[in-house]
Amino acid sequence: MSTVDFQDRMLSLGLARVSEAAALASAKLIGRGDEKAADQAAVNAMREQLNKLNIKGVVVIGEGERDEAPMLYIGEEVGTGEGPGVDIALDPLEGTTLTAKDMPNALTVIAMGPRGSMLHAPDVYMDKLAVGPGYRDGVVTMDMSPAERVNALAAAKGCSTSDITVCVLERPRHEDMIEQIRSTDAAIRLITDGDVAGIIHCAESAKTGIDMYMGLGGAPEGVLAAAALKCMGGQMFGRLTFRNDDERGRAEKAGITNLDRVYTRDDMVTEDVIFAATGVTDGSILAGIKREIGFITTETILMRSKTGSVRRMTYRNPV
Ligand code: FBP
Repeated sequence: MSTVDFQDRMLSLGLARVSEAAALASAKLIGRGDEKAADQAAVNAMREQLNKLNIKGVVVIGEGERDEAPMLYIGEEVGTGEGPGVDIALDPLEGTTLTAKDMPNALTVIAMGPRGSMLHAPDVYMDKLAVGPGYRDGVVTMDMSPAERVNALAAAKGCSTSDITVCVLERPRHEDMIEQIRSTDAAIRLITDGDVAGIIHCAESAKTGIDMYMGLGGAPEGVLAAAALKCMGGQMFGRLTFRNDDERGRAEKAGITNLDRVYTRDDMVTEDVIFAATGVTDGSILAGIKREIGFITTETILMRSKTGSVRRMTYRNPV
């Protein structure tokens, strides 16, 4: 299907509604200590709204395999069945623990593109590396060590390594990487969850203070982040990592034959897409849900890669 048939302009507002609905549904569960309930509320609302769109949609990045997820599973058909055939990548609540604990940067996230436009990433880890727009291609690479990446980025930015901030998920698996980054004198913003937001931060570094993202997180989240950077600009690389044969089997089932491949942003998202994310808790790229008597307000970022347009929309909804 061509991007003309995709009708990205017409569909984009609908996509924002889907993302808003998921955020609104999780609002009552912010800070309530129940990750599962928050996720379920977001999933239900996202699915209900998606099914109102005039699309023949298929979920390619979703809540899991069909036998693991009753809703929004990989391969589920969504939409009215009228309109363009589209692929959908979604994470109804990116940061379930952040939401349950009322910590920053929980988002609802969805991307849509023509059929075949997004990598069918299995649910394994992906080693990720991202920087924002404005740097020459390959300014940092997967082959460089963490310290070499900091040095290369500082040279390209024309600053000292101590002026670089790297965002990293705080996990024991990243201890060596963190030590190597610290050896360059760069700063590290450790996040406890939410690497889609972590990577988006690179695209607005003046606002967020983050220059580079690196480390292992979910592969499905990697494709969502690649979709966001395709709209905002910036480079991203990802390599699937496997802990056992079961995970290798998941990749093979998803049609991946070269298990060592380094994917660029445009390998993960091969055609123009639209992307929407709504803030659930306050963060550096989006405000979280605000409640006042009689109203609830959300902030959504809505983007199209074809035009590079980035809209921020505030939605005040009577309750
Ligand atoms: P959930 O929203 O499903 O809780 O996942 C959040 C997340 O932090 C992702 O942003 C990240 O890619 C992944 O989990 C990291 O996985 P792990 O917690 O296993 O390190």
